[in-house]
Amino acid sequence: MEKMSNPLEKIRAEAILAGGEARIAAQHSKNKQTARERIEQLLDPGSFQETGMFVTHRASGLGMEKSHPFTDGVVTGWGKVEGKLVYVFAQDFTIMGGSVGEAHGLKIAALLDLARQNGAPVIGLNDSGGARIQEGVESLAGYGQIFYRNVQCSGVVPQISVILGPCAGGAVYSPAITDFIFMVEKTAHMFITGPEVVKAVTHQEVSFDQLGGAAIHRELSGVAHFTAPDEETLLSNVRWLLSFLPQNNLTPPPYQAPSDDIQRSLPELSQIVPADPQQPYDVRSVIEALVDDGEFLEVQGDYAANLVIGFARMDGYPVGVVANQPFHLAGVLDINSSDKGARFIRFCDAFHIPLVTLVDTPGFLPGTDQEYGGVIRHGAKLAYAYSEATVAKVTLILRKAYGGAYIVMGSKHLGGDYNLAWANAEIAVMGPEGAVSIVFSKDIAAAQDPAAERDRLIKNYRAEFATPLIAASRGYLDDVIDPSESRTVIIRALEVLRDKRQNTPSRKHGNIPL
Ligand code: HXC
Repeated sequence: MEKMSNPLEKIRAEAILAGGEARIAAQHSKNKQTARERIEQLLDPGSFQETGMFVTHRASGLGMEKSHPFTDGVVTGWGKVEGKLVYVFAQDFTIMGGSVGEAHGLKIAALLDLARQNGAPVIGLNDSGGARIQEGVESLAGYGQIFYRNVQCSGVVPQISVILGPCAGGAVYSPAITDFIFMVEKTAHMFITGPEVVKAVTHQEVSFDQLGGAAIHRELSGVAHFTAPDEETLLSNVRWLLSFLPQNNLTPPPYQAPSDDIQRSLPELSQIVPADPQQPYDVRSVIEALVDDGEFLEVQGDYAANLVIGFARMDGYPVGVVANQPFHLAGVLDINSSDKGARFIRFCDAFHIPLVTLVDTPGFLPGTDQEYGGVIRHGAKLAYAYSEATVAKVTLILRKAYGGAYIVMGSKHLGGDYNLAWANAEIAVMGPEGAVSIVFSKDIAAAQDPAAERDRLIKNYRAEFATPLIAASRGYLDDVIDPSESRTVIIRALEVLRDKRQNTPSRKHGNIPL
């Protein structure tokens, strides 16, 4: 028996040693963990079951025939997170820089097939020099089949990409197709072409960090949904995200017995949200007050901060929250916030996570920058995503809901299931100041005291038109409530909508304005 196990242990040890001690030390010296250390940190202890440990490349030329490292530079398999099945692959930078060759690509593709067929989330830990130069078109084919599988998995199982090293060239497109991208600060970079190519083509000098570091993708491009200063925090945030997600599109989102009271009254909301519609406040304080135990996992927190999105629980059930943020650009909608909101809504819809929308917005941001950038096309995504979503949709207007922004923010007209407003909310085509200037411009000009007349007309307009009661009288709102009742009323609505089923027209697929 011992004779049998020794050779096996030997080759296993060889596979685990991967690129060798020197390369492992080099990896550690860059503050990076090895592929296996990362998997261990991500999964429940002892739960990892490897697939394809003994796979090797079959390339020749450019020195490839000299060495056939096990795993071919990617550790693949399955394990558990909080007792639930996940599939995971981790590129091993100590083997040819984690580069993707034919066998490496096939291993990831096979794992994605398993994840889709068995209905469990898939997590990719990326740390790779990109297409394996020695394998030429075979490595490009490897990437192509990964992209194809990512698309087949999209909307079937949650897909999470974690970037822990270089991710350049076409390699970035696999993470981009997946649902969420996590990036570690300093060591992770994502770009289509590196600084040297940028310099050669555009004469622009730019560092790796300036071109594609975690801060750039968190704040400017919106490519990264989550970042963290170190791998350990980042991987523990992956586990946090998974706690809100179902295993696949056919299973319900995970329920966690709540410790928070569903009847909890929220008198503080009237203080958090100033009555004066011009005064800013942080809508995250409203969200934290509404949801179970104040636990809110914000997604893309530093990108398009005028719209807040993220996951929380209400009465123990996960919800996706979409909220205008008056603290940033007064909560206007614009190109980036529309993109951000629409993709999140579609994710929640694909995985049966009910949407709770909190509205306080003066409308869409005007100006040539927005018009030239295609705000028409991008803004339409929000209307499309809300209309397309068949998941439960509960919308609460906190304060301002003007114009097109009123419609696209989960209104009744786009299929909102339960629409609410606080008693002081203003719903109108535009704000009182703008409306009065347009409708009464001649009267104001002719008045003895134009400023006083304008103020009087604004007051009248606010009282007559900018109230939720007109919308409620038309049935566009299901109820007008006191802020303190918000948590209880939203939870009651979500409860009756839990088994909502809605048919959609038969078609291949719609055509969202991209
Ligand atoms: C083969 C590679 C490799 C690659 C790195 N290595 N990238 N081997 N193909 N693409 C190997 C190195 O030869 C080295 O081997 C080991 O990995 C570590 O690399 P180092 O350069 O020593 O590491 P470091 O200094 O940390 O630099 C990392 C790096 C650099 C920035 C990623 O290696 C690099 O620039 N690599 C090339 C990146 C690239 O241009 N890839 C193609 C992108 S285009 P030894 O034996 O010395 O340990 C692309 C298209 C995809 O990916 C299209 C998909 C559709």
